[in-house]
This record gives sequence, C-alpha cells and structure tokens, in this order.
Amino acid sequence: MSQPNVLLLGPPGAGKGTQSSNVVDEYGVDHVTTGDALRANKDMETAHGAPREYMEAGELVPDPVVNEIVQAAIEAADGFVLDGYPRNIAQAEYLDGIADLDLVALLEVPREELIARLSGRRICADCGANYHVEFDPPAKAGVCDRCGGDLVQRDDDDEETVEERLDVFAANTRPVVEYYDEAGELVRIDGEGSPEEVWTGLHEEIEAAT
Ligand code: AP5
Ligand code: MG
Repeated sequence: MSQPNVLLLGPPGAGKGTQSSNVVDEYGVDHVTTGDALRANKDMETAHGAPREYMEAGELVPDPVVNEIVQAAIEAADGFVLDGYPRNIAQAEYLDGIADLDLVALLEVPREELIARLSGRRICADCGANYHVEFDPPAKAGVCDRCGGDLVQRDDDDEETVEERLDVFAANTRPVVEYYDEAGELVRIDGEGSPEEVWTGLHEEIEAAT
C-alpha cells in the first residue's frame, strides 16, 4: 500500500509540527512544512521580496512562493504530512490540482492555550527540534536533547506577532477549514490534551482513513 497523504490544519501553536513528527516516525512519510522551508530560506530573493519581511510581521508569504515549495516537495514524496499549507482558499485550490489527500485533520485548541504554547516554545538552532519550557522541556535547559544545539525562541513568537498570526489565521485560514468541512473531508481532533493524547486521536484517524 502506498504511504498516507495527511493534511494537518490548525492555528499557530496547535501542535502541527509536534504531531507531524509523530506521523513521520510512524509512517516514514515526508514532513512538508512551508514554515520550516521558509525559515531556512528567509532571505531568498523572490519576485515578491524576501520571505523574512512577511514572516517577521506575522503575515502570509505570497502564494506563488509557497505553492512552488509545496509542489516540488509533494512531487518528490512517497507519502507526506503537510503542515502550514494551505493557508488561504487560493492555496487550497492549488493543492487540489497537485495532490490527493487521505486525511484532512484539524487540531482544535483554544486561543489562550495557543498563546501559552507559543510564548514557551523553544526550537533547536541547529536541527529545528521543538520544545516547550513547561509542557515539553529538554533534559537540560537550553540544550537540544537530540543534537546538543542551542535552544532559541522563534523570531515570530513575541506577543505582538503571535496576536497578528492568530488574526491572520482567523481571516485567511478559517475559510480553508470551512472549505474542507463543506466538502465533507474534515476530521476534527481535540488538540488540547497532552501531545501523547493528541497523537492517539490523530493516529486512529489516519488508520481509519487508509
Ligand atoms: P509556521 O511555521 O507554519 O507557523 P504557524 O502556523 O504559526 O504554526 P507554529 O509552527 O507556530 O505552530 P504549530 O502548530 O506547528 O505548533 P508546535 O507543534 O510548534 O509559519 C510561520 C510563518 O511562515 C507564517 O506566519 C507565514 O509568514 C509563513 N508561512 C508559512 N506557511 C505559509 C503559507 N502556506 N502561506 C503563506 N505564508 C506561510 O507547538 C507549539 C508549542 O506547543 C511547542 O512549544 C510545543 O512543544 C507545544 N505543544 C505542542 N503540542 C502540545 C500539547 N498537546 N500540549 C502542550 N504543549 C504542546
Ligand atoms: Mg510549526
């Protein structure tokens, strides 16, 4: 059987990256994530300027830039978990033309919890691994368990940018949630439990869909 194609939707801080790692470990699929791809290429020159300008303001990077990243990654993958894309209806329509999805899952988490998660998130400057100072701390504060790299705060995790990202989600990406819901494709997952509890729910849905 071919590997699953999973789309994870959810607001900033919902746990898309955290749960994508579980999907990769379980199924051996590729993690296709526009956020990480853009962070690795923040100063790339595009016809629309550099991604950094948009990301540090919490705004969306223009569609042609992200569409191209996702198409190349999906074409190279045997199974994927897609995280951070599509973020508006135009991207969702583009995705319809380039991929068949087995599961579209929405991680649901209330706004106050999202803010607590993002303000405490730390990422490894070397390998990108994800931690939380309270909810998922490393064995030694400030040091990555996996590679020993320094743990840092993401540039867009300051309070003002977090608020803007949540507003951008409400305006641009909520309609994407409705788009899949109206098509009868959306599965809602309670994203508020522990990472292990959320994974149990997501894993069951992937198994049921494939
Ligand atoms: P992106 O990197 O995609 O950020 P985001 O959508 O804002 O989501 P996050 O990565 O902040 O959250 P997450 O859901 O992955 O949560 P995580 O698992 O880390 O995008 C960044 C920017 O890039 C955008 O603002 C935009 O500028 C640009 N961009 C990206 N894609 C684009 C696109 N398609 N179009 C245009 N522009 C685009 O978890 C968060 C924290 O909570 C962690 O510390 C984690 O340890 C903790 N945690 C996770 N799960 C739990 C749990 N169950 N309980 C307690 N803590 C938990
Ligand atoms: Mg993420």
